[in-house]
Amino acid sequence: MTLILKIDSEKPDGDKILKAAEFIRKGEVVAFPTETVYGLGADAMNQEAIKKIFIAKRRPLDNPLIIHISRVEQMYRLVEEVPSVAKKLMEAFWPGPLTIILKKSSEVPPEATAGLNTVAIRMPDHKVALQLIEFSSVPIAAPSANLSGKPSPTKAEHAIEDFYSKIACIIDSGRCRIGLESTVMLLTEDKPMILRPGAVTIEEIEKVIGNVEFNSNISKTSAVDKPVSPGMKYRHYAPEAKLWLASEDRLEEAVREALKVKKKVGVITRGEKNLQVAEVFNAGPDMEEYASNIFAALRYLDGRGIEIIIAEGVEETGIGVAIMNRLKKAATRIV
Ligand code: TXA
Ligand code: MG
Repeated sequence: MTLILKIDSEKPDGDKILKAAEFIRKGEVVAFPTETVYGLGADAMNQEAIKKIFIAKRRPLDNPLIIHISRVEQMYRLVEEVPSVAKKLMEAFWPGPLTIILKKSSEVPPEATAGLNTVAIRMPDHKVALQLIEFSSVPIAAPSANLSGKPSPTKAEHAIEDFYSKIACIIDSGRCRIGLESTVMLLTEDKPMILRPGAVTIEEIEKVIGNVEFNSNISKTSAVDKPVSPGMKYRHYAPEAKLWLASEDRLEEAVREALKVKKKVGVITRGEKNLQVAEVFNAGPDMEEYASNIFAALRYLDGRGIEIIIAEGVEETGIGVAIMNRLKKAATRIV
């Protein structure tokens, strides 16, 4: 049995959040909304609870989780120290879609960090998430609420699809505003390094702390050789269908080629486009809108039995860096 709680994201019903928080306190798993994607949450200080996340998600045990907090004070129990670069970032971007990685304290169970001596922490910018953490009175460890490898969940229906009857509770607060996971930054090396681009852009971060390291061409193979972020070595965000990534000027060429191989071709476009294929999903001309729709588009087209999905690429600036990072990782072919 999974309890589904519909909770308004702007005016959350405290009684319902309390109900969900009781599950967290009892060591159960709760899917909850954040501004980025839905999370699959459990008490971060409870080893048994964390194990349940890994089992439900079928997540490899060497891939650590992000710990979500609702107040800055909660940091001090989780980390050895908070360097000034971290303080600047927290002040500028929290609550918000930025995760920072610091040296962990001995109180954080090794299950949460997959045995690493570092811990990833963020404060989500979502009333329901923040109240859930408050009412649980513990930090909440949560990966994205999708089965390992599948596209991230940006609506409760996606979490229901993957976890109904497998976890105690799913909170439904509608769509996630951003739709892509947080920016992940490693702050334990000499130079701050972006491990995963997200809605907080590199430009915004550099305005606050100066130059950071980021290698946008982390290929699947080089990540396997030396996985800085353990999550990088796995295929990610992938729909059932084959996913081709094509720039706007090669879109028609990609469609022609795809139709030679398969009948059911779907295209995710940036704005209205007239293409002779089974499905066209207009994810919106605006880059933020495109970002918020992309994972839902992949799941939708899978649901329609599409065999090849062609996604239109975007410019790699601003949030476009994060969009292309996800699409490249999910793609089976770049046209
Ligand atoms: O927006 C988000 O970040 C969402 C919501 C639910 O907060 N969460 C999310 O979690 O995307 P997940 O588990 O899907 O992605 C976390 C990423 C993984 O690539 C993981 O390897 C990396 O962060 N990570 C976590 N802890 C780490 C650590 N100590 N060192 C290096 N990478 C770490
Ligand atoms: Mg994930």
